[in-house]
Amino acid sequence: MQSSLRQRLTYWLLGPLLLLVAAGTFVSYRIALNAANKAYDAALLDPVLAIASHLHGSGKDIELDLPPIAIEALRIDTEDRVYYAVLGAGGEHLIAGTAKLPAPPDALRPGEHAFYDAKLEGERVRVAARAVEVENGGTAIVEVAETLIKRDKLVLELLFASAVPQILIAFAAVVLLWLGIGQGLRPLARLRGEIAARSPRDLRAVPEQDKPEEVRSLVGALNQLLSRLNAAIASQQRFIANAAHQLRTPLAGLKTHAELARREPSTAELRSLLDMIAGETQRTSHLVNQLLTLARAEPGEALGHQPVNLHEIVGRDVRDWVQRALGKNIDLGFELEDAWTLGEPLLLRELVANLLDNALAYTQAGGRVTVRTGVRSGESMLEVEDNGPGIPEAEREKVFERFYRVPATGGEGCGLGLSIVSEIAGRHNARVDLASPQGGPGTLIRVVFPRLAAQAAQPARPVSTRAVPTSR
Ligand SMILES: Nc1ncnc2c1ncn2[C@@H]1O[C@H](COP(=O)(O)OP(=O)(O)OP(=O)(O)O)[C@@H](O)[C@H]1O
Ligand SMILES: [Mg+2]
Repeated sequence: MQSSLRQRLTYWLLGPLLLLVAAGTFVSYRIALNAANKAYDAALLDPVLAIASHLHGSGKDIELDLPPIAIEALRIDTEDRVYYAVLGAGGEHLIAGTAKLPAPPDALRPGEHAFYDAKLEGERVRVAARAVEVENGGTAIVEVAETLIKRDKLVLELLFASAVPQILIAFAAVVLLWLGIGQGLRPLARLRGEIAARSPRDLRAVPEQDKPEEVRSLVGALNQLLSRLNAAIASQQRFIANAAHQLRTPLAGLKTHAELARREPSTAELRSLLDMIAGETQRTSHLVNQLLTLARAEPGEALGHQPVNLHEIVGRDVRDWVQRALGKNIDLGFELEDAWTLGEPLLLRELVANLLDNALAYTQAGGRVTVRTGVRSGESMLEVEDNGPGIPEAEREKVFERFYRVPATGGEGCGLGLSIVSEIAGRHNARVDLASPQGGPGTLIRVVFPRLAAQAAQPARPVSTRAVPTSR
């Protein structure tokens, strides 16, 4: 039933249609039956009235003065058997006719008549009864009963007459429905053909104008998907081209310098070549590491998020960063308070590492860098602030692009750090704000995470330290 729309539609329409046919048949049958019953009842009352008009009172008794032949004539019917009875003294005393005719369910007042169903010797009968006031004789009850043969026949005929046309109409409707649905679903079949005929490289939008409205929304959604897919493929290709280009430069250098080194007899020259080789190796390996981190940070496999405290994430690598800051004569400070969120600790460490790496790399010697974690306006945040050269307003969007470096930036970066940051933030439903610190040049990057209510287990102690370098 799931497999074919046409079948589904037909089933959906068929049930209600059958119900309608049944209800229609029932209603028209009841109406016709009612009318026919009334007509038969009226006819049954005729002999009752005829008999009543021949009743006479003789002072203490009532008599029926109809010759037997006339009574027989009243009883004649082509199909049914007809019985009659005349009862006197309030129905107690049989004056004429069959004894066992059932009495009317309710007492009748003179001049009143009633019709009712009853049984006579095990046979179903319809009875017409009338109470008659007889001059000089009191009240008599006249009853005429007839079997139901012609009525039953009529019932069948009526049923047949009302059901057959309705069933025929329903049948025709089902056939028309089946054909009509097929016609209606044609555009879908055409669309399927159109898509199936495409080459896998053809991701152009499917034309929407010539499609019916219901299909158009489907095509619209499909086109959106295609266009996103297109963009994703294009960006993937750009990324691969960039990565290849970035790798080629240090690798080419490596090769040249290694070859030169092999032929270099002088130890001093050899040393400087080996230094170059070491530098190029370092750059290549940094690039490869950044690429791998980015690949891990990209949306794909689901992350097993766990409660993490940003305070601890930063705290884990403090020693290394302090070491590096001291080496560059930078005043590195930590102001760490608990800030819980759901996340992947390894990726969050990469995020912090890239922000701190930038701050330490681009801030001049003697500068000042501060890392903060904590809760601000109900959100967990991580902040890295420096008083280095800052990032020009116009570059603030671009620096998050892959392989983008602000022109004339020194150092050996490959332009992936902030892309990694934004990718990891994205995976944690966090946002990255880039601003200038209050009152001065520099860079302030704040990553705001959805806050997880403080974990009772092992709260970390707030830390506020500065590794003030001794001036050299
Ligand atoms: N704290 C900062 N101060 C000044 N400029 C910055 C700072 N952080 C980033 N930038 C600028 O933004 C650019 C992009 O930074 P990003 O971290 O993405 O790349 P990178 O540092 O050049 O390379 P990578 O981090 O991959 O080694 C940098 O080249 C630099 O010009
Ligand atoms: Mg960087």
